[in-house]
Amino acid sequence: MAIKSRHCCTSFIFLLLPLLLQFYSAESDLQLNYYAHSCPNAEEIIKQQVIKLYNKHGNTAVSWVRNLFHDCVVKSCDASLLLETVSGIESEQKSDRSFGMRNFKYVKTIKDALEAECPMTVSCADIVSLSARDGIVLLGGPRIEMKTGRKDSKGSYLSEVKSSIPNHNDSIQSVLSRFQSIGIDTQGTVALLGAHSVGRVHCVNLVHRLYPTVDPTLDPDYAEYLKGRCPSPDPDPEAVLYSRNDRETPMILDNMYYKNLLKHKGLLMIDQELTSDPTTSTFVEKMAADNGYFHDQFARAVVLLSENNPLTGDEGEIRKDCRFVNSD
Ligand code: HEM
Ligand SMILES: *[C@@H]1O[C@H](CO)[C@@H](O)[C@H](O)[C@H]1NC(C)=O
Repeated sequence: MAIKSRHCCTSFIFLLLPLLLQFYSAESDLQLNYYAHSCPNAEEIIKQQVIKLYNKHGNTAVSWVRNLFHDCVVKSCDASLLLETVSGIESEQKSDRSFGMRNFKYVKTIKDALEAECPMTVSCADIVSLSARDGIVLLGGPRIEMKTGRKDSKGSYLSEVKSSIPNHNDSIQSVLSRFQSIGIDTQGTVALLGAHSVGRVHCVNLVHRLYPTVDPTLDPDYAEYLKGRCPSPDPDPEAVLYSRNDRETPMILDNMYYKNLLKHKGLLMIDQELTSDPTTSTFVEKMAADNGYFHDQFARAVVLLSENNPLTGDEGEIRKDCRFVNSD
């Protein structure tokens, strides 16, 4: 009798187990409109704040796009990038790779608006992803549907930044394999670099292409222009000396970037390298010829980037202030 009932229960659990597991994992995955019940206006609040900030400081939208890359490519999309240096935490923002990053203070504006409506509900990691998504639209890029439900890290990964984020002069093959390792293919990588259609590059990242001799892959007239922007071979890193990424449409996420590359007007070495490698140059040509194709590939790759290895379910936490882990 006892044996029989144990048998019944074991098989019952075996029948139920896959169902339970499925439930559990579905719960811990990212999903569309994750905040539908807990904070129904969350996505709208973020969008409105991103628009308001853009109207005051247009380059905030540019920063949200770069933040997505620098956060997601280091371990996970977990807002580790946003942590400031305090005891026990060394900010990723201190890395050389984060050079030129700006507007972090305005993340607080977005988070404060969310805290006012739904305290301790919306993660900073989802703010990083959704602000990039909404910034992209304001910059004339594609509309992108994004899942939510990311949790925030309880630490930063400064020591992993250098191995995770390529340098401006790395080889194209090493950049491709870096993106490949997080599931982004060659086309997607070429499209993501199209983010360099907006924003700026400081002279410290350019002068090695200008002095003592001009990089032969750089258009000579463009090199003269850049020398005007960056007159010293040894610029003061504190000085605000820079060139815009794209002189024609500097605040529009469009395929002008690829057209410029074909005219040898790529700013960073890694930008110009996209045209010299046969595995990437065919995609550069396709994107230069077709803005819609660029936008489709960019949207697809941004989703892949934004879903890199997120913390979900019981992992991580929801920070109250994106700059610090919760004290609790
Ligand atoms: C191989 C990969 C990449 C390298 C080596 C790289 C490197 C750089 C460098 C050196 C700058 C200029 C910083 C300065 O001097 O102020 C920059 C700017 C920027 N990058 Fe990248 N980047 C890469 C990929 C990406 C990706 C995938 C995105 C986004 C999807 C992105 C978004 C941006 C944006 C928006 C800016 C302009 C920032 C501003 O004006 O504030 N980058 N990047
Ligand atoms: C790449 O640039 C850095 C400075 O950002 C420099 O120290 C390094 O030597 C350069 N590497 C190559 C391979 O040119």
